[in-house]
Amino acid sequence: MNRWTLLDIAPTSGSTGELRLYKRGEEFSIRVGSCELMNSRVHGSEDALGELACAKIADRPRPRVLIGGLGMGYTLSAALHGLGAEGRVVVAELVPTVVVWNRGPLGHLAGHPLQDDRVTVREIDVARITRAEPRAYDAILLDVDNGPKGLTRKGNDRLYGLSGLREVFASLRPGGVLAVWSAGPDPAFTQRLRTVGFKVDEVCVRTRGARGGARHTVWIAERTAKPVQQKPRTNRNLGGLL
Ligand SMILES: C[S@@+](CC[C@H](N)C(=O)[O-])C[C@H]1O[C@@H](n2cnc3c(N)ncnc32)[C@H](O)[C@@H]1O
Repeated sequence: MNRWTLLDIAPTSGSTGELRLYKRGEEFSIRVGSCELMNSRVHGSEDALGELACAKIADRPRPRVLIGGLGMGYTLSAALHGLGAEGRVVVAELVPTVVVWNRGPLGHLAGHPLQDDRVTVREIDVARITRAEPRAYDAILLDVDNGPKGLTRKGNDRLYGLSGLREVFASLRPGGVLAVWSAGPDPAFTQRLRTVGFKVDEVCVRTRGARGGARHTVWIAERTAKPVQQKPRTNRNLGGLL
């Protein structure tokens, strides 16, 4: 068995410090600390994230999709396959070096999706886009950690909490879809999606697609007509806390 070779190190803005890119034979791995963020050997569930979300919105006129983050480009590639010529995809990638890797040694893995004219890359925290652009997207696809908990950086936690999810809800067009990748189920996150007003479907996806493999989770959350209103906090609500 070949040994892993460290190809490059990318500094990140978060407390975790850096992403590292490794290669072993034809296989690539992106790691953060001691955790693997993405591996090129199996990507069925990352493909499924793109396929399931775009299947829901592909019929819309000029569908607009936001993907956070780029990783090795598999979700982006699957989304592009699911959209017609009129579709447009914005990819938000926090770590600029990951974009450099995708234009270089990782580009061939998912068929060079960054070369597709329908794609715009923004080197930015995806949450800055959802906060700033209301009713802008038909689908928002999130695969920035290994589930709804900050791994790449602690700051991502906010994305999965009620305030982050409300911003995502507002950034979707009515009937639009939020899709989130996770290594496994998370009932509290499912509940938060419902609390914000999403209609939620939790899908079990396999790492090797139709050939099976480990089970991962993708939430497909549809934006309903109106967000659920926050209850006003009265002294009575606060009573138990005082
Ligand atoms: C697990 S990988 C994505 C894998 C991708 N779905 C694929 O198909 O290869 C996570 C990516 O999200 C990026 N990322 C992490 N936090 C982010 C954020 N807040 N905004 C945008 N990108 C982020 C990481 O740098 C990394 O490139």
